[in-house]
Amino acid sequence: MIAKTAASGALNLLPEVLAFSTSLALDKQLLREDLAGSLAHLTMLSRQKIIAVEDAAAIREQLIDFWNQNAAGTLQLPPEEDVHMAIEVLLTSKLGTTAGVLHTARSRNDQVALDLRLHVREQCLDILSLLSRLISLLADQAEQGMDLLLPAYTHRQRAQPISLAYLLCGYGAMFARDVEAFAFALNQADILALGVGAIGGTSLPIDRETTQKLLAFRRITRNGLDTVGDRDFALDFSYATTRMLLHVSRLSTDFIDFSSSEFGFVRLDGNIACGSSMMPQKRNPDVFELMRGKSGRSVGNLMGLLATVKGLPAGYNRDLQEDRAALLETGPLARSVLSMMELSLQHVSFVRERCLAAVESDYTQATDLAEALVKKGLPFRTAYQAVGTLVRKCQELMLPLAKVTLDMAREVHTEFDQTVLLAANPAGSVAHKANQGGTGPASVKQQIALLRQDAQTAEALSTSVPRLDTLFLHLKEAAL
Ligand code: ARG
Repeated sequence: MIAKTAASGALNLLPEVLAFSTSLALDKQLLREDLAGSLAHLTMLSRQKIIAVEDAAAIREQLIDFWNQNAAGTLQLPPEEDVHMAIEVLLTSKLGTTAGVLHTARSRNDQVALDLRLHVREQCLDILSLLSRLISLLADQAEQGMDLLLPAYTHRQRAQPISLAYLLCGYGAMFARDVEAFAFALNQADILALGVGAIGGTSLPIDRETTQKLLAFRRITRNGLDTVGDRDFALDFSYATTRMLLHVSRLSTDFIDFSSSEFGFVRLDGNIACGSSMMPQKRNPDVFELMRGKSGRSVGNLMGLLATVKGLPAGYNRDLQEDRAALLETGPLARSVLSMMELSLQHVSFVRERCLAAVESDYTQATDLAEALVKKGLPFRTAYQAVGTLVRKCQELMLPLAKVTLDMAREVHTEFDQTVLLAANPAGSVAHKANQGGTGPASVKQQIALLRQDAQTAEALSTSVPRLDTLFLHLKEAAL
């Protein structure tokens, strides 16, 4: 049964209404954020002489005690409407009416916006750190994969030979973009919302800059009407997560396919391959399937958040409380998937012979042959048609392109010669790609170097803002 507080409204409010409207089950996850925010607000109120320093000291002692109890797992929250009221009630049970000064010049509307921003900010830091590690790992593995050849696919049909390094750099490029997306999400969250009250501000002489500094926010929101109804930072974070998880999902599909007997490119270590309860021979890629599956949850959460915000009038509306389930799931989901991807990648190996066989037994070097003819002066379309005819001939004879003879080629076009045919060698095909962004070794080395930079950028961003624990440590000692 949810208890009635000053915030509940009329004394005769039905218990069913309270039970329906409570958010405590979810927002108790924001307890640390709420305590840090309260401590900063309290410190500001005291410094501005809005509340007595002795009252501030007494309240601070209690807030620190709640923080410690929470860390020890012993804090019991009373059944209130939300985490904000639960803390206020707990505080009142310890300090009586003195507790009431903490909510001076504050509303739960700006308080919850603050808590959510602190939460998103910290999640972004954690995710950036994990992205940094993942990108470094991909760069390391790419370095090892410079001379392992495999086909690249378009339409899931073999297209052109590439190096494994190029494939891994391709994945890395996706996650490098995610670093930018999370840097943006971090920047959007890193704005102080507290200090606008319920919507229009306060007549009391608060100083938002003090609170901003105490909580290490980069900026201060500019308009209270907007601030209390704004969840754009949550949408940005949810979108960044969803897009990142789409990358994870696509990469997972590659690994799921590549580890099948049909491809046979990838072997999963026994300690990440899952079995079947019935078929004793199975080595299933469940971890990659789960990563792909979990990315779907994130898509759902983003849609839920968008739907919650759409159509709300300016200012605070209680609908916003429905952001909680979707938003609070987002960070932990992203973190668990990123950690699992980092782990899984260390337990897969590419089967060199199978990868090479797929390239050599096919026609993936056809474009290279056509380009070799272009180098001899043929218009590309003529060269393309000549190679197309040659490929069809080979296919009739079940002959891979690498095995084509000069005589066969010259029957198709007289410009074919020994040097042109060299282009049908898969290793040469990769080695001769010279453009930026291609699979050639010079470009891939550049791409690896860029990944190393991206990993560093992500790491630096992940430490660019103090963590909640650190902030709280400072707040405990800050002058009142
Ligand atoms: N529990 C609410 C939420 O999480 C807090 C703000 C409620 N404000 C109000 N006036 N009822 O969004």
